[in-house]
Amino acid sequence: MKNMLVTGGCGFIGSNFIRYLLRESNFSGNIINVDKLTYAGNPENLSDLENEFQDRYTFLKADLCDPDKIAQIFDRYSIDTICHFAAESHVDRSIVEPDAFIQSNIIGTFNLLECCRKNRDQIELFHHVSTDEVFGSLGKDGLFTETTPYSPNNPYSASKAASDHMVRAYHKTYGLPVTISNCSNNYGPYQFPEKLLPLMILNGLEEKALPVYGDGKNVRDWLYVRDHCSAVWLIMRKGKRGDTYNIGGNNEIENIKIVEMICDILDEIRKLEGIKSRKELIAFVKDRPGHDKRYAIDFSKLRHELDWMPEESFASGLRRTIEWYLDNTSWVNRVKSGEYQSWVESHYR
Ligand code: NAD
Ligand code: TYD
Repeated sequence: MKNMLVTGGCGFIGSNFIRYLLRESNFSGNIINVDKLTYAGNPENLSDLENEFQDRYTFLKADLCDPDKIAQIFDRYSIDTICHFAAESHVDRSIVEPDAFIQSNIIGTFNLLECCRKNRDQIELFHHVSTDEVFGSLGKDGLFTETTPYSPNNPYSASKAASDHMVRAYHKTYGLPVTISNCSNNYGPYQFPEKLLPLMILNGLEEKALPVYGDGKNVRDWLYVRDHCSAVWLIMRKGKRGDTYNIGGNNEIENIKIVEMICDILDEIRKLEGIKSRKELIAFVKDRPGHDKRYAIDFSKLRHELDWMPEESFASGLRRTIEWYLDNTSWVNRVKSGEYQSWVESHYR
């Protein structure tokens, strides 16, 4: 693995992954980060690394839906390894505007796979980052395993399911060396504040309403983002080519419990003006259509075959995440104001 193309490296998990590779892992090659810089992509997430690793790290603004541009990048940088994060990632947006999800998640993945097929001899690995949401919803019991049938319920998860199938097909049909990971909900630094945790943290800080969908009893399995990054890197190095691995945190929590935990930590760190507790800000709102009730992951394959375990507990990870948002108010303000988008326009035309 000499020249690794990381797609979506300016997003939440992709930027944490590049940071992990450069700062913490044994990877010694070059990273070419290709990102379209949608509303969710922020090159500022990696600005501290751009200078420090300028001989090994390159950022290129490009859309995976532009096959000629992607082909040029494969040629120019002699790409031999791909770690594919780029995607439209927010379920609520996919319900309102599914088109971008079909384009980026399905067509974008197809274009990448085609580049790999054309450069088959030089490709060592295509790692595809996916989600547990492709399996649909669980009832009260049971866990998703690698053999659970796909049953996506919203345009986001359906588009990710389609891309997973294409990656698998390129392995079976063309012998492309691939690995796929299906991970549970991530949280941690640099997450765009449309997802549950950062939205609640920032609304709570500003003492705004905390909108909980339905009865708040939907369950997700939460994983600290660094643990996801360590799992992906391990699978890339040691995972069996053609195989799929589930990644999870053993950490099922109801949405309402998470919101209450966030309120308690914020109340402790930041005193309130008019109210006794931020829990008074919780507002139960209309449920998300097709809202999956419960996700839970069985990651015993990853644990037994590759000896992986998550390191961060939810209590400490949540506190670290809250502290990160408190310590990075200029990042928060820029992301929320959209100021970074005009900065992006002037820097990365
Ligand atoms: P994100 O929305 O924060 O980042 C996505 C990045 O992809 C952005 O930087 C965006 O600009 C880029 N991108 C989107 N379309 C592109 C295109 N056409 N061409 C080039 N770049 C494009 O998402 P995230 O939360 O970091 O998720 C990353 C990946 O991990 C996604 O594939 C997602 O499905 C998967 N995943 C996410 C979670 C989670 O909890 N966030 C859990 C499991 C799996
Ligand atoms: P989200 O962070 O959007 O991730 P995903 O839909 O991929 O699981 O949502 C996590 C859970 O929180 C999900 O059950 C929907 C719920 N939710 C709310 O109750 N209120 C909100 O404002 C948001 C964004 C999510």
